[in-house]
Amino acid sequence: MTILVTGGAGYIGSHAAVELLNSGYEIVVLDNLSNSQTESINRVKELTGKDFPFYQYDLLDRVDIESLFEKYEFEAIIHFAGLKAVGESVQVPLKYYHNNLTGTINLCEVMAKHNVKKLVFSSSATVYGNPDRVPIDESFPLSATNPYGRTKLMIEEILRDLNVSDPSWRIAILRYFNPIGAHESGRIGENPSGIPNNLMPYISQVAIGKRDKVSVFGNDYETKDGTGVRDFIHVVDLVKGHLKALEYINKNEGVETFNLGTGTGYSVLDLINTFKSVNSQEIPYQIVERRPGDIGVCYANPEKAEKLLGWRAEKDLIEMCKDTWKWQSQNPNGFE
Ligand code: NAD
Ligand code: WQD
Repeated sequence: MTILVTGGAGYIGSHAAVELLNSGYEIVVLDNLSNSQTESINRVKELTGKDFPFYQYDLLDRVDIESLFEKYEFEAIIHFAGLKAVGESVQVPLKYYHNNLTGTINLCEVMAKHNVKKLVFSSSATVYGNPDRVPIDESFPLSATNPYGRTKLMIEEILRDLNVSDPSWRIAILRYFNPIGAHESGRIGENPSGIPNNLMPYISQVAIGKRDKVSVFGNDYETKDGTGVRDFIHVVDLVKGHLKALEYINKNEGVETFNLGTGTGYSVLDLINTFKSVNSQEIPYQIVERRPGDIGVCYANPEKAEKLLGWRAEKDLIEMCKDTWKWQSQNPNGFE
């Protein structure tokens, strides 16, 4: 069974590639390398001892996508490719709408033409906007607070419309909470370009000495220590959910949406302090103003995924911090 992995050179996609190969799937990876390097592909091959084709193709180029579907018989697509920086999406919204929406539409059009109708899509907990309460389940109202989030929301709706038009589509929409951590080998991990937007890569760059201190965005939220609370999930647990989703859509038609989170919220200070004690690294921090657009508390109700997919996150915050540091300390400059 050959699976096309779009965005497979990226952070989550490369971990998914390892898991798929180790589980006996054949894969083909497509990535335009706009936010990744071929070295991640080399590392996936090294880790698994398996070879697979990699194409530096852009989903905006339909001719290239067509050529792949003519060359391979895909069983399903796992679609990670997309731009994901919230702040940048506010600055250059058209780039985000064009890349994320047009890329997905191109992909689905080519899939339909070749009668490949199984898709696993990377959505995000950002589609819950500012939720009234926690834990968040899949039936909560949806909204977006920035163009990036709106692309996820729009793609979800496009996929639902697609299924109304042709119920033989089998689509799993996976709403990720906050993926962190790295492969336990320390050979692949998150490799942000420039100043990290997200908390965990920022912490690990402080630990390695690339940045002076973490700015903690606000300590006046209604949480136990006043800092924001999130559902941090180990990337390896997250990608295992994709394999379960593949099995699910093999058996079931229609569109189904699943939260992928642990169900437990930890604060910004919990993460800093755990990282510090697990890895014996000093993490200086300073409390600063809230970051505009941030919400106080966000964590999943992951019961639906447990019930229908038979999936549950297993790794704790200690492993997330340990594996992040293994990756960061062994690769101080990422894949460069
Ligand atoms: P990433 O940037 O590391 O990986 C995405 C990959 O897609 C990159 O390698 C990039 O080069 C590629 N890409 C982008 N546009 C492309 C295009 N037009 N054609 C071909 N390749 C293209 O990001 P990630 O963290 O691995 O995220 C993967 C997916 O999960 C994204 O869709 C993201 O929005 C979603 N997601 C991520 C998070 C998170 O916190 N990391 C949370 C929720 C959802
Ligand atoms: C987590 C907490 C910050 C950085 C974002 C996207 C979301 C999803 C995941 C893709 C918050 C605080 C952060 C820092 C800090 N991505 N923080 N100092 O905002 O929950 O979600 O990534 O879909 O769409 O919005 O993640 O890691 O940026 O922040 O204090 O330098 O850490 O305020 O409370 P977030 P994050």
